[in-house]
Amino acid sequence: MKWSAIHLLTFIGLTSCVTSELTGQGLDIAFLMDGSGSVGADNFIVMKTFVKNLTASLLEFNTSFAFVQYSSGTTIHVNFHQFQRTGWENQVDSISQIGSNTYTAGAIQTVVNDLFDSSAGARPNAHRILIVLTDGQSSDTSTYPSATALADRKNITRYAIGIGNVFDSQSATDELRSIASSPESDYVFKVDSFEALDKIISSLVKRITVIEATVMRRQIVRVELQVNLTFDLNNTVVQDEILNQIKLKLQEQGLPSNTKLSWIKQPDGQIFHKKYNEKSVKEQKKSKDEF
Ligand SMILES: *[C@@H]1O[C@H](CO)[C@@H](O)[C@H](O)[C@H]1NC(C)=O
Ligand SMILES: *[C@@H]1O[C@H](CO)[C@@H](O)[C@H](O)[C@H]1NC(C)=O
Ligand SMILES: *[C@@H]1O[C@H](CO)[C@@H](O)[C@H](O)[C@H]1NC(C)=O
Ligand SMILES: *[C@@H]1O[C@H](CO)[C@@H](O)[C@H](O)[C@H]1NC(C)=O
Ligand SMILES: *[C@@H]1O[C@H](CO)[C@@H](O)[C@H](O)[C@H]1NC(C)=O
Repeated sequence: MKWSAIHLLTFIGLTSCVTSELTGQGLDIAFLMDGSGSVGADNFIVMKTFVKNLTASLLEFNTSFAFVQYSSGTTIHVNFHQFQRTGWENQVDSISQIGSNTYTAGAIQTVVNDLFDSSAGARPNAHRILIVLTDGQSSDTSTYPSATALADRKNITRYAIGIGNVFDSQSATDELRSIASSPESDYVFKVDSFEALDKIISSLVKRITVIEATVMRRQIVRVELQVNLTFDLNNTVVQDEILNQIKLKLQEQGLPSNTKLSWIKQPDGQIFHKKYNEKSVKEQKKSKDEF
């Protein structure tokens, strides 16, 4: 018996709980903190708190971190080698502010050259992410094109975070755009104040873990469908065909094409369980998909 599209009547309840696992290609994440004089001492501490909060949220994944500060010059305080999985909070806390000018583009160049390198503990196969924090416009904008071209060649994904109302201006926003990877909507963030950095953590975590698609997620979902009773649901060919139809439907709705779908057998050895409901018979089962 062949599966046909008209038999694919309903999918219900594809939301589910998600468990994340520490696997995948890995993420090497560098923070580039603005230590220029325009950042008040209190705000520099808030910036470090943001860096710690974001690091803490990403620690459960296959991640490594580096902490860098820029002002007139660039200081790599903690490279990927030096990052300590226990004790990293102190590593961030002990960074003291330089407090001079703002040479953001030069800092990006330094990080791309010196930090995203195996000599600094960058892992060869990990995805590379640079998060640039800035409170204002830099004095070396002409260096952006070469710095970001170099970053692109080394596959470094860049997030630009502008802090403060200076980014209400078009030219300051343009600068964030020159720092960040494109599209702007995914990689440029603006907040009104240092305190407001807190509000972007969850969306940054989501972007970093989902857009980079390096985090393997296993999701178990329960699907309820109506099928033509003449099918032999014990037939693996039929099972595969149904799964394939589900996959095609989900892909239409944005399921990444590298997702694996498979059935889960219940303790009784069966995938499908009948549900007597109204006049129709619905088959219940569980499916498992892996991202
Ligand atoms: C974590 O990422 C590293 C770097 O790409 C990779 O070599 C390693 O296999 C990953 N670990 C797991 C458990 O997937
Ligand atoms: C960048 O990514 C491309 C495509 O995945 C790959 O072919 C290339 O080797 C990568 N370059 C570096 C420097 O990792
Ligand atoms: C950091 O996390 C703490 C605890 O969740 C929160 O109170 C604080 O507002 C966060 N700060 C920043 C800047 O993210
Ligand atoms: C079930 O499938 C058979 C064969 O394709 C068809 O003749 C029958 O009308 C179908 N029944 C329903 C309820 O769709
Ligand atoms: C599949 O086979 C089992 C016995 O192995 C049987 O109990 C069950 O009703 C069958 N299911 C269907 C849908 O044919």
